[in-house]
Amino acid sequence: MDRNYVEDSFPQINKIMNKDLREGVVKTWQLAVAKGGWDKIDDVPFTLLTDVKTSLIEHTRRVTDMAMAIGQTRQDLNMDVLITGALVHDVGKLIEYTRKGKTIVKSEFGKMVRHPVSGYGLVLEAGLPVEIAHIVAAHSKEGESVTRSPEAIVIHHCDFIDFDIARTD
Ligand SMILES: [Fe+2]
Repeated sequence: MDRNYVEDSFPQINKIMNKDLREGVVKTWQLAVAKGGWDKIDDVPFTLLTDVKTSLIEHTRRVTDMAMAIGQTRQDLNMDVLITGALVHDVGKLIEYTRKGKTIVKSEFGKMVRHPVSGYGLVLEAGLPVEIAHIVAAHSKEGESVTRSPEAIVIHHCDFIDFDIARTD
């Protein structure tokens, strides 16, 4: 997948000041697309609950915007870590899900490894630091057994704000 597609999908990449983190976001998505065997990811949903229509790209953008708003309000969070973590928190879903005919279903891999765990691996493989891998691994219920960093706390809550509201549609 070409990098323009990733950058167009996630325009907040340009808000990351650190070049290595920006590069890492692009690389992580490219890696996930390749490993998951996707061509385009526009129609990948953010959850497999049948009644939720939001795409993974829309959800990722929204979680990132919400996290940035919180970061700007508080002024005591690492903005680069916040944006980078938000942009890759669900990247593991490209391996957890797979295309089956016209629908998208849980993959055989996804039945064994959930996206916070596969995403953690992708992020490290792409060369992103452990602060980002921590956010990915801890953003969901998997994170209840570790002490979340302040940035991971924000992503965790923004993620569930979007998820819980989507379920009420
Ligand atoms: Fe999410």
